[in-house]
Amino acid sequence: MANTSQDPSPQTDPPAGVRSVTSDARRVRVHHLRQARERGEKITMLTAYDAPTAALFDAAGIDMLLVGDSIGNTMLGHATTLPVTLDDMVRAGRAVASATSHAFVVVDLPFGSYEAGPEQALASAVRVMKETGASAVKLEGGRRSAAQIQAITAAGIPVVGHLGYTPQAENALGGPRVQGRGDDAAEELSQDALSVQEAGAVGVVLEMVPVEVAARITEFLQIPTIGIGAGPHVDGQVLVWTDMAGMTDWSPRFARRYAELGRALQQAAADFAGEVRSGAFPTTEHSFGQ
Ligand code: KIV
Repeated sequence: MANTSQDPSPQTDPPAGVRSVTSDARRVRVHHLRQARERGEKITMLTAYDAPTAALFDAAGIDMLLVGDSIGNTMLGHATTLPVTLDDMVRAGRAVASATSHAFVVVDLPFGSYEAGPEQALASAVRVMKETGASAVKLEGGRRSAAQIQAITAAGIPVVGHLGYTPQAENALGGPRVQGRGDDAAEELSQDALSVQEAGAVGVVLEMVPVEVAARITEFLQIPTIGIGAGPHVDGQVLVWTDMAGMTDWSPRFARRYAELGRALQQAAADFAGEVRSGAFPTTEHSFGQ
C-alpha cells in the first residue's frame, strides 16, 4: 500500500517472514497497537539511538522503536539518564525517525524537560514532534505526571507512560529495584497505571514489576502495556538494544542476549588492526591506480 501524504518516509517492503502488528508495510499507528492488544498479538519494541540501527530494526519488523533516554548510559558515556538533554533526544529522535518507514517511533522526554508542569511538558513534546518526525513521546511517572500527560494528549500528541522502576528517579528509588512488591506498593502502582490511562496515554511501559502485578495491571487497563522485566503477561516487550544484542559483557537479568555483537565488533577491530600492521590490508583490490 502506498504511503499517505501525511507519511513522507520512504516505503520499503518488510523482509519475508517478518510479522508485525500491521499486515503490510505501512507505518504502525496508535490504532494498530490498540488492535494488537485486542487480538492478543504481542507488540515488539526495541530502543534505537541512530539511523543505521533504526533502519535494521525497522527492516526486522519491530513494531515500536524507543529513542530512550538510556542513550545517556548506552551511548553518551554517562552513568545515568539524568544528564541527557532535550537537544540529545531531538538529535537522536530525528536520526531514528528519518531511517524508518514502518515502526512507531517514540522519543523519551528527558529528566528536567517536563517535571515543572504541563506547560513545560507541552513545550518539550511539541519541540520533539516538530523537529524529529516521531509518532509519540514517553515520560515517566504516574499520578505525579498525569497533568503533563493530559496537556500533551490534548494537543494531539500521543503519550506513552512509564511506571515501575523509572530510571530518572533512580536516586529516590535507591537504584534499579523491583517496584510494586507487596500489597500496598502494588495498589499504588495500580493507581498510577489507572491515572496514566485516564490522562490519555496510548500505552504504558512497566519496568521491573513483579509478574503478577504486571498481569493484573494489563488485565484492568484498556491501553497496551509494554514490559521490561515485567514477565510475559503483558501486551508487549521492550529491551534496550545493546542488552539484547550483547554489546557489553553485562546485561540485566531480565534481558536475553540474542547475539554477542560486542565480541564480534571487538574481533573485527582487532583483525583490522592486525592486517594494517602486517601489511595484509589494503591490497590492490582496495587501492586506486593512476
Ligand atoms: O530509556 C529507555 O531505554 C527506557 C526503556 C528502559 C523502557 O525507557
